[in-house]
Amino acid sequence: MNETLERWSSRRAFILAVTGAAVGLGNIWRFPYITGENGGAAFLLLYVAFVVLLGLPVMMAEILIGRAGRRSPMQSLGHLATQAGRSGHWRWLGLFGAFTVFCILSFYSVVSGWSIEFLVSAINGDFVGKGAAEIGAGFDAFLADPWRMTFNHTLFLAMTMTVVAAGVAKGLERLNNLLMPLLYLLLLVLAGHAATTSGFGQALAWLFTPDLSAVSPTVLIAAMGHAFFTLAVGACALMAYGAYMPDHQSLPRAAAGVAVLDVTVALLAGIAIFSVVFAQGMDPAEGPGLMFVTLPVAFADLPLGAFWLSLFFLLLLMATWTSSINLAEPMVATLQGWGLGRGQAAAAVGVAVWMVGMLSVLSFSTLADVRVLFGMNVFEWVTTIPPEIFLPIGGLFIAVFAAWVLPEPVALRALDAGPHGFRAWRGLVRWVSIPLTLVVLASGLI
Ligand code: PHE
Repeated sequence: MNETLERWSSRRAFILAVTGAAVGLGNIWRFPYITGENGGAAFLLLYVAFVVLLGLPVMMAEILIGRAGRRSPMQSLGHLATQAGRSGHWRWLGLFGAFTVFCILSFYSVVSGWSIEFLVSAINGDFVGKGAAEIGAGFDAFLADPWRMTFNHTLFLAMTMTVVAAGVAKGLERLNNLLMPLLYLLLLVLAGHAATTSGFGQALAWLFTPDLSAVSPTVLIAAMGHAFFTLAVGACALMAYGAYMPDHQSLPRAAAGVAVLDVTVALLAGIAIFSVVFAQGMDPAEGPGLMFVTLPVAFADLPLGAFWLSLFFLLLLMATWTSSINLAEPMVATLQGWGLGRGQAAAAVGVAVWMVGMLSVLSFSTLADVRVLFGMNVFEWVTTIPPEIFLPIGGLFIAVFAAWVLPEPVALRALDAGPHGFRAWRGLVRWVSIPLTLVVLASGLI
């Protein structure tokens, strides 16, 4: 396949698309519960450090490859490698990325389905006057009902694949433009309101006074994985977007803007959620249900709470929608590269992801005790191993490719940050990001 001629319509459109991919369940759902499970402040500190030292430089590496190759991830990698006189086998990295996002999308769609359920409940006013315990019990009852979960999972995936089938650039821009600032504003209000509640002081202390003695290899791995996950890095998904990046735009500036916003959204969500946790005497390590149980409580205090809660779940759904579209893109691009039409490719991906997603749905009922690997059930496995192991491994190879394999002039041009900016970026990737990822991964294996 030849170079793609399609481009995002403007620099702003590119930034919005990458933000759309980055901000999603990772910030509002996964960040709080993983932070909760890993003890709070020490994890948070590591996560921010990993975003700066690994996530951000590797994000630039990944987009840079797409921009230099201007093809689907597999084809870009293969093409650039052979042009540089290296092995065309580099293209398999694109396939590994597609496999990673396949696993991630399978649970992403299920959890986004939970948001659909909560949106409907919020609109119906089901949470009005209820406390955390009651909402928690309702959530557990929902999880135990595979039919309702299947319905929502199916609906969400259909929504995603429809936009993907229609073509990424068109479907996304309009959506993103309008809605996301409203979501950030809502989170800001929520965090501001949390400051007036009794749990706020404890939440801040718990989030921001790290106890480094609590750091174990598990915490390290979780923090590194989440840095990749939240920035949507390591699965060649952003590489696919890089192919559409306009010619004159500084990549580091665009990427840094996205990362700052992404971390801010997570922190706001964390403050809002943990204030409720401590005010209600809940367990921070509650697990994947954490956001769903705490946010209805947080909103209940606000005037017109049920309305704002409904709006929140609607916007969250929009945010997860744009992320899941990005998750689907590498797979669809790969199948297109193999000759399928876009609609066919989207349909095939949709059906395959749906089937694997069903294993996650059933992980809360029929298959709850079926342990696949490492003593985890399917849902636990897909929410842990692909984000925490596959993404860093993918990111590692992406970093090596961009900083060691690509010829300097090609990478320099695609980064678009001048010779000094380029040296700084490449030095960081070569001597910090790559070794650090290796060390953390190794610490996890041992
Ligand atoms: N970054 C997305 C989120 O935070 C998830 C994602 C991971 C998207 C990997 C694309 C690739 O929700």
